[in-house]
Amino acid sequence: MAATLTSPLRRPRRSQICIGLTCVTLTCIGAAGCAPVTAPARAQVVEVEAIDPAPSAAPAQPAAREKVMLGEPSLTAGVPGSGPITLAEIDAWLADPKNFVELDPVLPLGLSQGAAQITGLDKNPLTRAKIELGRQLYFDKRLSADATVSCASCHDPSMGYSAHTKTGVGIRGQLGGRNSPVSFNRILTGVQFWDGRADSLEAQAVGPIQNPIEMGFTHEGVVKRLGELPVYKKQFDKIFGGLTIDRVGQAIAAFERAIVTSPSPYDYYEQMKAFAGLDAEDIADDPDLAKRYADAKAAVEAHPMSEEAKRGREIFFTEKGNCTACHVGANLADEKFHNIGVGMEAEKPDLGRVAISKDPKDTGAFKTPTVRNVALTAPYMHDGSIATLEEVVEWYDKGGHANPQLSDKIRPLKLSAQDKSDLVAFMQACTSPTPPVQAERLPADQ
Ligand code: HEC
Ligand code: HEC
Repeated sequence: MAATLTSPLRRPRRSQICIGLTCVTLTCIGAAGCAPVTAPARAQVVEVEAIDPAPSAAPAQPAAREKVMLGEPSLTAGVPGSGPITLAEIDAWLADPKNFVELDPVLPLGLSQGAAQITGLDKNPLTRAKIELGRQLYFDKRLSADATVSCASCHDPSMGYSAHTKTGVGIRGQLGGRNSPVSFNRILTGVQFWDGRADSLEAQAVGPIQNPIEMGFTHEGVVKRLGELPVYKKQFDKIFGGLTIDRVGQAIAAFERAIVTSPSPYDYYEQMKAFAGLDAEDIADDPDLAKRYADAKAAVEAHPMSEEAKRGREIFFTEKGNCTACHVGANLADEKFHNIGVGMEAEKPDLGRVAISKDPKDTGAFKTPTVRNVALTAPYMHDGSIATLEEVVEWYDKGGHANPQLSDKIRPLKLSAQDKSDLVAFMQACTSPTPPVQAERLPADQ
């Protein structure tokens, strides 16, 4: 488990710095040896991480467990080959013991500070075989009644794992009532949906299949159809010991947990900032640390944050913008529910969380979405009512929309035009690639 550098440093005699999977202890020489980091307005925990996972020597025998950095392309590359996946290919895939080794996922820089937030692996361990089965199911339109809609129709990798429509568009072009949220970085999240009505990713994944305006099928129907496709049948039998709707959910959840955002310019900037508290001589004295410092510096130079984005970061993380009152933590989302007034002007507003919690305080409250890759996922909000990030910032600047349950964290911000564009620039600096995913290769019809 990676240790962290907290800022301001409490003048430790020794500080431990963990990068990737290894830690070094740095001894501070003299009182000035470990100068305190310039404290940001809100004390944060910053972690120094390697840019690339340290490649471990391949064991002669497949290990009982495999440590793997999420985002590693081989996890989502699909069964080797081209065209529809054949029975012979799947037999070879399932015969390879390495695809059944339990994975210990390591999070990439930035998300790694949220390692303690990882949920669901005890009940649904990750293996390469399970992630691959989930990948096939995620992109397979045969999971919908008329075989026209897949999960990817509304959570499309080319649209930041969401859809550029105001609300979800299901079978026969039916419109849902809410905007499609993102399906990445789910490994760090608990309850799902804007109102949190699904307890887990597994429970969430089987919902759309029988939602009449999404995939419009039944659980019985989908289990029967998949059971008639030998490539699926083989995989469910070998991976789970049989095919049930719950296992469909488990496989899809495993795939979603493998989809994470890689480090963004913001993360490289934070990584570099963590070194600011260390003395140059101490860095130079420790070859290992010196190498990491050089790597962090190179990364920040290759993925720079603009001056606008740096100023925007200050607004985002301080009282001035107050964004981190809710968009906080590794995924820049607190996983809680807040009323910021969106849609509350309607005659019959969508009341959100209260329908689940029955707590009147939750009237008009929705789950805080991530700001990671938000530049890729317009339109915004649970109802898709805001078209651009500029307009989102205007929304916050005017203090949301007044209503009796408006969060006390929402108030007029009085930002200047420059502040507003800086905030947008900061959010844009939170953009980074998700892993390359094989979206075409699906099980053959027979
Ligand atoms: C017709 C469009 C559509 C399809 C198809 C669809 N979704 Fe969704 N998805 C949505 C919408 C809209 C929501 C938000 C609904 C709500 O909160 O009430 C959502 C919510 C989610 C969430 C919750 C995210 C969060 O932040 O809480 C996940 C995860 C997800 N979908 C994954 C999937 C998977 C997996 C499938 C395929 C089995 C799928 N979706 C199929 C539109 C769709
Ligand atoms: C009180 C908690 C809270 C605060 C403070 C807050 N947000 Fe939000 N944010 C939310 C919630 C909740 C939503 C979704 C609201 C809805 O759809 O009804 C949201 C939505 C968003 C979205 C749209 C994301 C999407 O995928 O649709 C962006 C962008 C955003 N916030 C940025 C910011 C910025 C920038 C600030 C600071 C100026 C900020 N937020 C302050 C809770 C908050």
